[in-house]
Amino acid sequence: MVRKAIIPAGGYGTRSLPITKALPKEMFPLGLKPAIHYIVEEAVHSGIEQLLIVISSLKHSILDYFDHPLELEAFLKSKNKEYLLERLELPKIDIFFMLQPSAKGLGDAIRIGKGFVGNEPFGVLLPDDFIISNENPALKQLIDEYKKTNSTVIGLKQVKQEQLKNYGVIQGSNKTNLIEIENIVEKPKSDPPSDMAVIGRYIFTPEIFQYLEGLKEGVNGEIQLTDAIKGLLEKQPVYGKIISGDRYDIGILKEYIELMKIMSNE
Ligand code: G1P
Repeated sequence: MVRKAIIPAGGYGTRSLPITKALPKEMFPLGLKPAIHYIVEEAVHSGIEQLLIVISSLKHSILDYFDHPLELEAFLKSKNKEYLLERLELPKIDIFFMLQPSAKGLGDAIRIGKGFVGNEPFGVLLPDDFIISNENPALKQLIDEYKKTNSTVIGLKQVKQEQLKNYGVIQGSNKTNLIEIENIVEKPKSDPPSDMAVIGRYIFTPEIFQYLEGLKEGVNGEIQLTDAIKGLLEKQPVYGKIISGDRYDIGILKEYIELMKIMSNE
């Protein structure tokens, strides 16, 4: 059973500067809720019971958002504005927070979650990848495959050739609707091994931590989760599953605006 998940939210959000100096991209509004509210909901709807959000000291607003605002509730009651209390409802799940001391990369953020995860499989949801699916939530789609394989399963999407340089890109062979991953390259500058890119949903076996430990800096001088996956797939089967749904990258202004329109009509 996959009960736990990590949301790494410690990065600087450099693609969205200058607003991210003061407002984390995870807190960008979609309608009247911040993006991360929906990511947490996705985890809940996928059956996750405990969530770790890895933040940096610049991201206190995320912690504030998931806090229980007793004073504000009392204020609304005293002003006969009880009808607004439902707006303060949060997804029903235990949320833990840990600090990532410096933005060393995605692999570093996940490594920080080792104590939280312990020795069980777990999910990862990258909060700038927003996926709207008419079927099961994106993470649940991967959990269903994990149940069949007991192996690491990574969310994939076919991406245009010129965009592959922005993603982890896999090489693999088809096994029914799953792809057995044979190799993975982070942000290939040239000759991407396929047009299948990793989008930010993963289910990992706990062995991934062995490969995150002591990992050297990779592409862009960051500790790359992709490099740990590369180590893992030499020892265990690692599968890829094309996620059904529309994916939006909150760090790309055009996609964020499109998403904002969709979510404002909810
Ligand atoms: C991260 C991962 C990359 C993946 C991408 C999906 O990159 O390192 O493998 O394809 O997320 O959004 P980032 O976008 O954080 O640079």
